[in-house]
Formats: sequence, C-alpha cells, structure tokens
Amino acid sequence: MILHRLFIVGLTGFVIARSPIEVRSNTTEGVNGTNLDLIPRLEPLSYVKTDLLNIAYYEAGPPDGQVVILLHGWPYDINSYIDVAPDLASDGFRVIVPYLRAYGPTTFVDPGTFRSGQQAALGADIIALMDALSIPKAIFAGYDWGGRGACVAAALWPERCSGLVSVNSYLIQDLSIAWVPLVPAIEAGFWYFYYFLTPRGVAGLTENFKELARVVWTKNSPVWNFTESDLDRAATTYNNPDYVDVVVHCYRVRLLYAPADPRYAELEAQLLLQPPITVPAVTLDGLEDGNFPATNGSSSAKYFTGPRVHHEVPGAGHNLPQEQPTAFADAVREVATL
Ligand SMILES: *[C@@H]1O[C@H](CO)[C@@H](O)[C@H](O)[C@H]1NC(C)=O
Ligand SMILES: *[C@@H]1O[C@H](CO)[C@@H](O)[C@H](O)[C@H]1NC(C)=O
Ligand SMILES: *[C@@H]1O[C@H](CO)[C@@H](O)[C@H](O)[C@H]1NC(C)=O
Ligand SMILES: *[C@@H]1O[C@H](CO)[C@@H](O)[C@H](O)[C@H]1NC(C)=O
Repeated sequence: MILHRLFIVGLTGFVIARSPIEVRSNTTEGVNGTNLDLIPRLEPLSYVKTDLLNIAYYEAGPPDGQVVILLHGWPYDINSYIDVAPDLASDGFRVIVPYLRAYGPTTFVDPGTFRSGQQAALGADIIALMDALSIPKAIFAGYDWGGRGACVAAALWPERCSGLVSVNSYLIQDLSIAWVPLVPAIEAGFWYFYYFLTPRGVAGLTENFKELARVVWTKNSPVWNFTESDLDRAATTYNNPDYVDVVVHCYRVRLLYAPADPRYAELEAQLLLQPPITVPAVTLDGLEDGNFPATNGSSSAKYFTGPRVHHEVPGAGHNLPQEQPTAFADAVREVATL
C-alpha cells in the first residue's frame, strides 16, 4: 500500500523521458583504440535460450562437476572472473559465467519484453538459465547486481541452490524503505542513482558509458590498479542495444521512480518480506571497497538462517573476484563444504 502510494507520487512528480539509444559498434578494438586481442577474455561463449533471453555464457571445467554460476556486477562484465573461472574449473567445478540481461551478447528474444533491471528479474534469470541447461542445483556466487541476483534466487528457490557466495552479504533491497536516506557520505557514492532519474543521466550513460564506468570503478576500488585494457574489455560489452534501458530501469525502480515489470509482481511481493537465506553461505566484504564499507557481518546475520561464514578480504575493493581472485575462489570452495 505504502509502496503504491510512494510510487504514484514519484511518477506524477516526474517526467520520465528517454533519449534514443545509440547502437555502438561491435569490434575487438576497444573504446580507446586498445587492441583487446592483447588481453585474455573468457571465451569462447556458448548461447542458450530461455523464455525471455538468449543468454551468452562462458563455461569451463568437467561437465559432471559441481556447478557454480559466477555472476557479474555493474558496470563490469564476465571478465571479472578471468582468474576465478580457470581456478575453480581446474579444481573440478563446472563453471558457468553468464552475461546478465543487456550485457555483451545476451539479448532479449522478443523486442516487446519489458527491459527490466529489477531485482526479481536478476534472480529469475538465473533459474531460467539453469532450467535451459537442465541444471537442477548450483552454487550461486556474485557481487553487486550479480550478488543481488544470487541472493534473490537463493532466497526464493533454495531447492535450486547448494550454496551462496555473496560480496556485501544480504543484497535483497528493502523497497519499503526506498525513500529513507542513508548517511550523506554513502549517498554521495550513489550519485548515479539520482543521475539516472533524469534525461541528462540517460544521455550521459549513452554517450559516456566507458568514462562513467571509469569513475565508478575508481570510487568502488581505490587500490585496484586496473589497466586501460581492463576497462576497455568491459566497456566493449556495454555495446548492447538494451544496456541503457536496463541500467536506467534498475536504478529508477529501486527508488520507486519507474514501474516494475508486472511479470515479477508475485516475486517482488515475496522480496518485500526480506526472505531469509537458508542455504549455506559465505559472505565477503572488501576492506578497500570505496563505496560499500566493509562490515564484520553482524548486521546482516539475521538474514542468514543456515550455516554462514563471513570474511573481510584485505586488498579488495568492490570488484572482489577480479581484485582478489583467490579469496573469491576460496569462498566458493568453502561454501561447498558447509
Ligand atoms: C558482435 O560480436 C559477437 C562476437 O564476435 C558476434 O557473435 C555478434 O554477431 C556481433 N554482433 C553484431 C551486431 O555484429
Ligand atoms: C585514451 O587513453 C588515454 C591514456 O590512458 C587517455 O589519456 C585518454 O583520455 C583516453 N581517451 C579516451 C577517449 O578514452
Ligand atoms: C598501484 O599503483 C600504485 C602507484 O603506482 C602503487 O603504489 C601500488 O602499490 C599499486 N597497488 C597494487 C595493489 O599493485
Ligand atoms: C561488529 O561490528 C559492530 C558494529 O558494526 C560491533 O557493534 C560489533 O561489536 C562487532 N562484532 C565483532 C564480533 O567484532
């Protein structure tokens, strides 16, 4: 009820305008002339069709190994797992690393499908991927958008989840407090939430997708010396016709400034209850995260009702699997034993 009222107020107080989306070129040459062939990428990719998506994913490891699905964040891509994926594959895991909806070569099947970035969609996509690949159960591991999708899927489909690795612990947004402010120092890091509410932010993301990512990466990971090629490799995957729509929707809907996709209404109603994670979980916080301060895990303990171990990871910012790949891979190995 309250949610509905807030949403109406939000909508009527605001004109939601969109600029046309520019379709960018698709080459192996990076945005800044970097030759991306010079740095490794997770490839070749495979493709599988779900009800809504044609999902591009990287796969490694023995086909009969325990499945782990590695989920990337924004504004990043599957190559956050460039070191984690081969590490786990050589340890006997069957590793699946999908491009999330609207990233890289993952596309929508139907041009009419709502380009949603809401949290229920991110979770449901994981289950749809597993169904399409006939995978009954997997470990879900991720950070940022990918960690959110992992938490949603683990909470709503525990029978499909053998364990969860989540950077920043419990990531299911509580939309009932969407308009409650955080402390200003934290709000300052979330400038893009508010930018994306405006036509100016939509144009900015469309035109400056790479430089915007550079700003977010630098703030998220102050001690990570990423290279121009690292950034180019990721930015090339924002060359997806739905990238701007889905990113903008993701941040608008979490502030109740955009309608949600009605297809997920029932799932969102469950998420509003902040469901517990009952499966075994390992949670990680990067001690050098510049935007999401590390915790000792105590404040999120109430959401984890199964076995749960929390680690603070030195030398890691927000893109933890790329910055401290061994710590991330170790968390997957650990959750498999809980
Ligand atoms: C973009 O590149 C990928 C990978 O090389 C290719 O499969 C896809 O068809 C390309 N898309 C377009 C629109 O050229
Ligand atoms: C390209 O990279 C150089 C060196 O890192 C940087 O100075 C320049 O601003 C970049 N240009 C663009 C358009 O990204
Ligand atoms: C990053 O680069 C700075 C400056 O060159 C250096 O002091 C620092 O040790 C580097 N950090 C890492 C993690 O390599
Ligand atoms: C964890 O951090 C909280 C403050 O965020 C503090 O109150 C609590 O004592 C800490 N617990 C441990 C075990 O360090």
